[in-house]
Amino acid sequence: MSRTKQKSSKGADNLLKELSKFTSIPEEGTSYATHGIHPYSAKFIPQLPAKIIEECVNERHVVLDPFSGSGTTLLESRLRSIDSIGFDTNPIAALVSRVKVTVLSKKDWKDFDNIVLQIKLKFKEKDYSKSWIPEIPQIEHWFEPKIIKDLVLIAGEIKNIKNQKVKELFEIILSSIIVVTSNQDSETRFAAIKKNLNFDAVEKKFFKKLISISNSVKDLSNNPKVINSKSDVFFADTRKLSTYISKNSVDLVITSPPYLNSYEYYLYHKFRMYWLSFDKNIVLHDKSRDNEIGGRHEYAGKNGKPVEKFRNEIFQCFKEVSIVTKPGKLIFIIVGDSQVHGKFIDMAEFYTDICKEIGMDFIAKTSYDLKSITRSFKSQLGVANRKNINKQQHILIFQNRSNVKIPLAKHE
Ligand SMILES: C[S@@+](CC[C@H](N)C(=O)[O-])C[C@H]1O[C@@H](n2cnc3c(N)ncnc32)[C@H](O)[C@@H]1O
Repeated sequence: MSRTKQKSSKGADNLLKELSKFTSIPEEGTSYATHGIHPYSAKFIPQLPAKIIEECVNERHVVLDPFSGSGTTLLESRLRSIDSIGFDTNPIAALVSRVKVTVLSKKDWKDFDNIVLQIKLKFKEKDYSKSWIPEIPQIEHWFEPKIIKDLVLIAGEIKNIKNQKVKELFEIILSSIIVVTSNQDSETRFAAIKKNLNFDAVEKKFFKKLISISNSVKDLSNNPKVINSKSDVFFADTRKLSTYISKNSVDLVITSPPYLNSYEYYLYHKFRMYWLSFDKNIVLHDKSRDNEIGGRHEYAGKNGKPVEKFRNEIFQCFKEVSIVTKPGKLIFIIVGDSQVHGKFIDMAEFYTDICKEIGMDFIAKTSYDLKSITRSFKSQLGVANRKNINKQQHILIFQNRSNVKIPLAKHE
């Protein structure tokens, strides 16, 4: 692989042409390695960061995803022995990212197997003695009693696991079945519906996931490319990036910032946080919800906040990105258009404006119809169709200026 590769604008245009081929890959083609271990809304199609990484960096470099979500960029970096850093304000995102790139030793797998046996025994003996129940408000509205009983059995065992890596692996397995065994309609719809689940739904789904997830993690643990690099995952707000990582330390940024007025990551994952007994400050006092930028709960409806709030927050994030990224290095932003208070927002213009103000140079962009995207943006597509609006997805490339001057400004 060549040394640091900067793109001429022709080189960037060719890369963008290549990247736009990766916009409609069927789900089966996107869940290789550990990509498929846990659901997450608006995930990257992994071939996208993979291609960018292959074109732009090598083993001596560091890749940053300041909105890392389920850790797609981190895993693609690790698969190429490249160090990476991820930031996300959602605790489930941080957990998924950590497990996606985890490497377990022989001793860890022994601990894992022992716990599998213990949980199997609990199910066999119907031993509900460790009857810890999470304090979910209106729990029986959201979970059927037969489901609660079995989730309690598994969660009770997981709470006591001492080996942290193994504990997180079990947490991911349990977390991956929470929405499908609850009455929550779907990953992106927070309303209770009747699902007519079988009495053994939890047991069946848990052990099925246990096999598929542990097999994926085992394969990754045996991959020599992965062992030779590391990923640091921060459960933290990107507006504070430079308090966690050094200035001028990042060689490449690949990210998909939160979509404006489209998702509510805190809400979608709320029950998972309860069942995994996350810190009460996070779950009950909505800390992670407060820090989530662009969520529907803030912008939807007549009394929604103005777009200017979102702009200020995104400005702060990218100002930090500029500080931690080496001068002259590339920043890839993948983002879709939005609509707020009936007004269409062209996100290519929005981000170009912000990045220029921060002091980055625009290099190139490509845009394509959201209708061509199969899975990640389905809920957005629904909105687009209803309103007859032609929303687009954009891939934007910026270069961090050699002489970075950050305007102080109103945005502080
Ligand atoms: C579109 S998703 C990224 C998905 C990711 N590319 C993947 O493949 O999974 C945007 C992410 O931004 C995160 N986010 C929102 N506000 C944030 C903030 N202030 N700091 C860090 N992350 C934030 C959300 O929790 C969400 O995971």
